[in-house]
Amino acid sequence: MYDINNLLRQNIKNLTPYSSARDEFQGEASVFLDANENAFGSPLPAAYNRYPDPMQHAIKLRLKDIKGLPVRNIFVGNGSDEAIDILFRSFCNPGVDNVIIVPPTYGMYQVSANINDVETKKVLLTDEYQLNLEGIAEAINERTKLIFICSPNNPTGNSINREDIETLLANFNGLVVVDEAYINFSRQKSFIQELTEYANLVVMQTLSKAWGLAGLRVGMAFASEEIIEVMNRVKPPYNVNEASQQLALQALQNVQQVNDWIKETLIQRDKLVITLKTMDFVLDIYPSDANFVLVKTTNATGIYNYLVEKGIIVRNRTNVELCEGCLRITVGTPEENKTLLSTLQQYK
Ligand SMILES: Cc1ncc(COP(=O)(O)O)c(C=O)c1O
Repeated sequence: MYDINNLLRQNIKNLTPYSSARDEFQGEASVFLDANENAFGSPLPAAYNRYPDPMQHAIKLRLKDIKGLPVRNIFVGNGSDEAIDILFRSFCNPGVDNVIIVPPTYGMYQVSANINDVETKKVLLTDEYQLNLEGIAEAINERTKLIFICSPNNPTGNSINREDIETLLANFNGLVVVDEAYINFSRQKSFIQELTEYANLVVMQTLSKAWGLAGLRVGMAFASEEIIEVMNRVKPPYNVNEASQQLALQALQNVQQVNDWIKETLIQRDKLVITLKTMDFVLDIYPSDANFVLVKTTNATGIYNYLVEKGIIVRNRTNVELCEGCLRITVGTPEENKTLLSTLQQYK
């Protein structure tokens, strides 16, 4: 049976987190001499001389409305990459525990595992880029703490079958991490609504993709109160800087703009696919639920190098297992897509 106490590292169970100046005093005051800041200001038009809110309350209140779940179930990080790393540091004993990843998938799960000296058990997706549930069941052992599922998946673009993820959630005693970085582009429902059903579910999302804020580094994890409480204890005290907090909050008021861009991106994606299909070096284009498409070609590296020469950068995934010959192409503006397509049309 799932029990967070069986998963947590002992040092994290025992951890007394750093208590920052801003943790110890919250409320109204006019003179702050508690954090060794520069009281005069910043050498900038705006003042950033004060430490930011360690718990990002304003952003979480806005996310509560947008995502429809209580603040106590929300973690905000320096990108969702930080959330991935914190899960490793909280739950995986280096050199002892393991996690399951399902390649081809987002590369940071492996990198974070390597940094934390945690073994990854790799269970390849099927030829349809879906979960191999039997393979996963065989790979799980008593030291398996986390399973990472990316849906829609990067780099393949497809969503993972919902029932398969639910099967894992219902049968695995560790945490199932569902990375929804691309969910805004998808026809699938988020797993956020399943949080009340499954105590071992962690949903990750980000402001880096549809929200257009990759440069600010703001990511989110949604999970049970007890998991979020652990993540908050393990994170660095001021993990999201003040400029990012202010700008993210401002951006979160502008849902309409983001929704318009999502619609436009999907229209552009379909157009891109139609024209790419006419090119004789394109062997296949995989169905995408994201803002990119995975394109199987006769010569990925040749096409990639040709595009680089022309100043166009796509992602060459040909060395990734199950993605041989594939380029991952992000959907751009109509002008960028036109440039890409007309350049590709001249490829010999
Ligand atoms: C599946 C997936 N998860 C997470 C991330 C990273 O998100 P963030 O910018 O919030 O760290 C990416 C970025 O490419 C991604 O593709």
